Amino acid sequence: MEVIEILREVSNKIYENVKDLAGTEHAAGDFGRGAGGDISRNIDIIAEKTVLDFLKEINFPCVVLGEECGRVELSKEPKGYVIMDAIDGSANAVRGVPFFCSSLAFATENKLSSITDGVITNLHNGEMYWASKDKGSYFNQEQMKVHNKDPIYKIVGINTSGASTELMKKLHPIFENHNHTRHFGANALEMALFARGLMDIFIDLRDKIRIQDIAAGYLIVKEAGGLLLDANLNPLDADLSYDTRVSFIAAANQKILDEIMSQM
Ligand code: IPD
Ligand code: CA
Ligand code: CA
Repeated sequence: MEVIEILREVSNKIYENVKDLAGTEHAAGDFGRGAGGDISRNIDIIAEKTVLDFLKEINFPCVVLGEECGRVELSKEPKGYVIMDAIDGSANAVRGVPFFCSSLAFATENKLSSITDGVITNLHNGEMYWASKDKGSYFNQEQMKVHNKDPIYKIVGINTSGASTELMKKLHPIFENHNHTRHFGANALEMALFARGLMDIFIDLRDKIRIQDIAAGYLIVKEAGGLLLDANLNPLDADLSYDTRVSFIAAANQKILDEIMSQM
């Protein structure tokens, strides 16, 4: 089985196992702090267990880097890393807001830039976004590209959850100049929507994003033709460490990037 097929199949299994849980008390059960630093909810644990059980069942030789379970070595001779955010947008999932996803990526080395495969699945409806290196990005069965024309409505995604006063001041001109700013609460799924051409730029400059939040989106955005930069406008890369926190800008093209940057 190709790596991408493994990630797609197990993403479908997550969807089957959690699709009826959103907004229920059962989803919210508290399991203490996970490796990523947030409280692990029952829905997170169920989704992660689905992945770990499947990878064990098929004897996939890898190291799993899970947001809740931490580093799990499934083999003494691993082929690479499975970077897992089994539920991204946990707050939405627990409250029943229909915007949360799973994010799974495979990397051959300890770097974002070595990611070869990524899958983001919308766990409200099962829609799947996926990419393999040099093979393009797909939405279900259709190849997808970022929006590269002048849009009818320019949609600017900005993650401002928990942003500092200083950052909010810096971002303020963007809010003032754009009528259609958006933040939906699941970073990975927002990157997928951007890659599909539904947003023109997506910005998260809070220095809070973990490797698990961004790994699959990293490849999906790039394979869809998007620019993916760090806060200094250099190509985004980072170590796959639990201490890593990144800021990033995903832009459909240089024009919108220049326009937004000139306002900050
Ligand atoms: C969170 C979501 C959210 C972002 C947070 C992440 P989680 O992931 O992606 O949109 O603002 O920084 O931690 O905790 O739901 O997996
Ligand atoms: Ca996350
Ligand atoms: Ca999560």
